[in-house]
Amino acid sequence: MEPVDVIEDIRLDGKQPLQHQLYQRLSERILDQRYLPGRQLPPSRQMAKDLGISRNTVNAVYEQLKAEGFLQTRAGKGIFVHEDIKSAVNPSGPGLSKPGVVSMELPPLPALPRGKSKPVEDASLPFQPGLPDLDAFPIRAWNRIMHHQESRRSLRGYDSIQGYQPLRRAIAAYLRTSRGVRCDEHQVIITNGAQQALSLLADVFLQPDDSILCENPGYRGARNALGRFGNPLIPIPLRNQVLDVEALPGLEPARARLLFCTPTHQYPMGGILDLSQRMALVQWAQQNGCWIIEDDYDSEFHFYNKPFAAIQGLYENSPVLYMGSFSKTLLPALRIGYLVVPEAVVEPLLWAKQISGGETPLLTQATIAEFIESGQFTRHLRRMRQLYRDKWQRFQNEVIEKLDGLAQPVAESAGMHLVLEGAFDDVALSQWLKTRGFGSTPLSAHFLGESSRTGLVMGFASANEREITECVNTLRSGLAKP
Ligand SMILES: Cc1ncc(COP(=O)(O)O)c(C=O)c1O
Repeated sequence: MEPVDVIEDIRLDGKQPLQHQLYQRLSERILDQRYLPGRQLPPSRQMAKDLGISRNTVNAVYEQLKAEGFLQTRAGKGIFVHEDIKSAVNPSGPGLSKPGVVSMELPPLPALPRGKSKPVEDASLPFQPGLPDLDAFPIRAWNRIMHHQESRRSLRGYDSIQGYQPLRRAIAAYLRTSRGVRCDEHQVIITNGAQQALSLLADVFLQPDDSILCENPGYRGARNALGRFGNPLIPIPLRNQVLDVEALPGLEPARARLLFCTPTHQYPMGGILDLSQRMALVQWAQQNGCWIIEDDYDSEFHFYNKPFAAIQGLYENSPVLYMGSFSKTLLPALRIGYLVVPEAVVEPLLWAKQISGGETPLLTQATIAEFIESGQFTRHLRRMRQLYRDKWQRFQNEVIEKLDGLAQPVAESAGMHLVLEGAFDDVALSQWLKTRGFGSTPLSAHFLGESSRTGLVMGFASANEREITECVNTLRSGLAKP
């Protein structure tokens, strides 16, 4: 039989590397049995001439296909489609009786979770909630520290699942002084973002019949992680933008194992739980055998007053699982968060972490540790607090001035986002705003079940002055439409 006629059959274009294209064309033809086992291919010189490409490219593809078992060389005769391909393509059948495209059928799929992952194109839009000012990050100082750390041999292997000890020590010291957390480094577990902290808590704390109490509206990342085994999520209503502690006794808390809250800056409404409410919450949890997950996600950014100390530190031995993250204080891309837990649950959480991802990247941990120890973290926070305060003020002023009667800012002087509440279709408005280049999330999406309020959650920290003005003007034009 004549060798395959590649001039007739194969077209290459400039869109992808030629070697990759030729490999794809040949392997496809062998797999779908257009080139049958035993069929001869032209010598590389001939193929290169016919296709107008270099002989080295053809030789490289032939070598690759031989190594993978698609082709074989017969001494003195040339290159052929491997005879054994037929048993690989049709292992139990009578041979190659079924020409045509080889298509695999997936085995039956299990019941898949219905959630959708975040679209990547939203990730860095100005006003995307949760995003810090990426341009204000002290990248040179950071790089200097990273270069200094990166040549250390001890950072190239495995390390402790619990996290790099100097980082745990630095976090414990920082939390004791700035957040009143009662802890030492043995209670700190480094996680891959706050999100992993939540997943680990779900792994360790939840039994099939347990329920989870969550602020409503609240942080979706927490609801998704804690509710992923199907445990019932019970909404706790807000009063004056904070968790309504008095509503707890009426919520069938009998089997509530976990209560998720953001007491120092309610997400997304921004309220701050006062001291008497904090005490009542801890006492309620103690009496009802429930653990409080305290997400202290952005308390570094309280603009005029020092933030309330963390609930975790109110009492000795309180039933609080404290979590934090460097996503807002440094960068979300680092994917580093931390848990502070009673010593008795450290070991079970480490086991859960070991089987779901293992260690946290060491170089990043060591860089953060040095960044904190050298005093640069504190300086960075001070600068960001001032910067975000200015942005918050500007954004709020613009909203009050230009969106009067259309949207109302719900504001404490804290954090990196603001809710603009109003009677509009917030899902549609958020989508539309995205087409204009601005991020946001609809307030209604933060509710469990029926939403009772609509608005936009807007992360002002990532927007510059011009973007703040443009976004508010854009919103006015969108909201003023009949
Ligand atoms: C309420 C809340 N908690 C925690 C986080 C931090 O999550 P992570 O550390 O996984 O980036 C965020 C980020 O947006 C948040 O909004």
